[in-house]
Amino acid sequence: MRSIYIETYGCQMNLADTELLFGHLRRHGYWRTDDPALADVILVNTCAIREHAEERVLGRLGHLVRHKARRPDVQLGVAGCMAQHLRDTLAAQLPFVDFVVGPDAYRRLPEILERAGDGFVDVRLDRDETYADIVPERAAGVRAWVTIMRGCDKFCTFCVVPYVRGRERSLPATAIIEQVQQLADAGYREVVYLGQTVNAYHDGAVDFAELLRRTNGIDGIARIRFTSPHPSDMSERVIDAMATCDKVCPQLHLPVQSGSDRILAAMERGYTVTQYVGLVERLRRAVPGLALSTDIIVGFPGEDDADFRATCELMHAVGYDSAFMFKYSARAGTKAGRWPETVSEEEKGRRLQAIIDIQEQQSAVCNRALIGSRAEVLVEGPARRQAGWMAGKTPHFKTAVFPADHVEAGTQVCVRITGSTAHTLVGCLE
Ligand code: 5AD
Ligand code: SF4
Repeated sequence: MRSIYIETYGCQMNLADTELLFGHLRRHGYWRTDDPALADVILVNTCAIREHAEERVLGRLGHLVRHKARRPDVQLGVAGCMAQHLRDTLAAQLPFVDFVVGPDAYRRLPEILERAGDGFVDVRLDRDETYADIVPERAAGVRAWVTIMRGCDKFCTFCVVPYVRGRERSLPATAIIEQVQQLADAGYREVVYLGQTVNAYHDGAVDFAELLRRTNGIDGIARIRFTSPHPSDMSERVIDAMATCDKVCPQLHLPVQSGSDRILAAMERGYTVTQYVGLVERLRRAVPGLALSTDIIVGFPGEDDADFRATCELMHAVGYDSAFMFKYSARAGTKAGRWPETVSEEEKGRRLQAIIDIQEQQSAVCNRALIGSRAEVLVEGPARRQAGWMAGKTPHFKTAVFPADHVEAGTQVCVRITGSTAHTLVGCLE
């Protein structure tokens, strides 16, 4: 048997793909190692969403190549979104890389490894590839990631994803239900459905709402979450399923990107600020106490002071529990990537810091409001920072820590919240 080491960058889809790769390769005679110095194959599963992500990977590859210097038989490869994005140049730019595989080529990886060398490249995108039959080798724990759809058809003007992950396609509902049942049998308590536009899921008559309903009935699974939905696919049916399925958590990541109609139109997001806020209101009416998070980009081409102020105003109006915030990064191949940049790096940095400050305050306010309440915490293990404390997640996906000698991971306990920071709830067992 040969050994493989995989290092993962980017989003949860990539983490789930790495688990898929481990599962697939194990059945072809590879065992997993967490030490690159012991690996026969070193693979970097990459992200292309922003330039910074690609730069990090390039730096890391330059570092990992020293394993080849010591052991020339080691095969070094690049997988994932950046492999697909830089497909025409990567092998020439990095002559020490043995193989380059895009997100739809993973099934062929065992054969590729037999033939790899001299920059072997397989970046064919495949409209039908869902890997539905490949069982991932998942990390142990209480939560399992389940990819239910792949690709994206939205083509937001800033985003490279539709180009590197290809067209939208859903796994058969029967395969997902079977997987979730197996996860319950294996002791996982929570599933997180993943997809680039996860609520666009559809398999014949089974849409995303119906999938939530069908999997809500699976014994052993206590919680269901999903990420990331697109606001335009957040139908009344999905809202109703969130409201009525007891295992679907009252928590939603709903990327808004900007609070300016002009910028949303240029991004081709498919909604206005009023429509987005209306959606938030409907969601909050249907799911009381819903915890909301979002993604925001600052410095998109054409974003002026008034547009930026509108984004700050939207943040105040919605009051997000948390947010991922980014400086716009021009991506080759996208529509916006061809437009002149109008916001300097310095100004982008200033805007980013301003919204980070707003969000820190709002997160603190949201968490403070929970002091005195009780929460069901799904225990994950000992707290990282304090000995004698345990940690887990609330239904709202907030980390809660509480003093306890030992509570079995996967147990749900009732915790009274006694304190908070912007990022953590502190409590005691009831
Ligand atoms: N520049 C900056 N941020 C981006 N994102 C996607 N593409 C870009 C880009 N070119 C952000 C969006 C998306 C999140 C996953 O990454 O906010 O929702
Ligand atoms: Fe990118 Fe837009 Fe698709 Fe999300 S919906 S992956 S931002 S193109």
